[in-house]
Amino acid sequence: MSVPRDRLRVAVQKSGRLAEASLSLLGRAGLAFRASRDRLFLYGENLPIDVLLVRDDDIPGLLVEGSCELGIVGRNVLEEYRLGAPAGAAVPAERQALGFGGCRLSLAAPDGGAITAATDLDGLRIATSYPALVADWLARSGIRADVVVLNGSVEIAPRLGKADAICDLVSSGATLAANQLHEIDTILRSEAVLAAGPLPQSGLRAEQIERLCARIEGARCSDGARLLMMQAPRAALPAITRLLPVRESPSVLSLDGLPDDIAVQALCSGSLNWQHLEDLKRLGARGLMVLNVERMLA
Ligand code: PRP
Ligand code: ZN
Repeated sequence: MSVPRDRLRVAVQKSGRLAEASLSLLGRAGLAFRASRDRLFLYGENLPIDVLLVRDDDIPGLLVEGSCELGIVGRNVLEEYRLGAPAGAAVPAERQALGFGGCRLSLAAPDGGAITAATDLDGLRIATSYPALVADWLARSGIRADVVVLNGSVEIAPRLGKADAICDLVSSGATLAANQLHEIDTILRSEAVLAAGPLPQSGLRAEQIERLCARIEGARCSDGARLLMMQAPRAALPAITRLLPVRESPSVLSLDGLPDDIAVQALCSGSLNWQHLEDLKRLGARGLMVLNVERMLA
């Protein structure tokens, strides 16, 4: 049992692919921190929310034991923990995908070898740090192969003769290429996610959690969002809506003394460009204005 605390705790990867983007997201959600001397703990200065800096693989366990209430972790780590847990055990849940740290968990085999498809793995050895995900995929695919568990440097296992193929995270693909390996199949698409512990929460603590989740979602939604404002002929509205990379239905306002015209406000994605504005002008729009969105709360 963990000691009761009145401050919320969020676990974040200490160093690695997700570390910097995770802290930047918390910053955009309005949290400011002061680091402890050992850099393992970030004390929340403006809200009762602290950050634990840990190894990503430890985050699911910390959530389950209640050492923290939320964590930012790769879906690959979360799913490996979930599939590896005993039946009926409490496991953390994915609350929201965060849109960064995109990668895939893929099977890969040596270039120029006999393995060119997943079915060629029958009877062979696969080295991985994700034994539960690989075993689950093998069972679902009806392929029988031995899983060799390695905790690092999985990509060199075939050269060392420890395995015939590997299953590892691929982001840019540089690690595979450098080790003369090529992908043969993807077993999981992953990205950073916000995960919550399985312990039931109530009262103030539950409110704190929901509030932080809403802020994180808002910070994520406002990334790249643009507010487009214009006036246009009322008749052009359907064509305008079709043309724009809108994220939700535009707001339409009537204009005093101009019954055939409207003012339009549309929340658009970051792909809104000059071409869109020129096309709108051709549809009769005028007074076009694009504003970056600083903050959003659904
Ligand atoms: C992954 C994976 C590879 C590398 C692939 O490790 O194990 O080493 O990234 O990336 P690339 O395709 O861009 O070369 P990661 O940094 O996630 O560390 P971890 O699995 O040890 O936490
Ligand atoms: Zn790791």
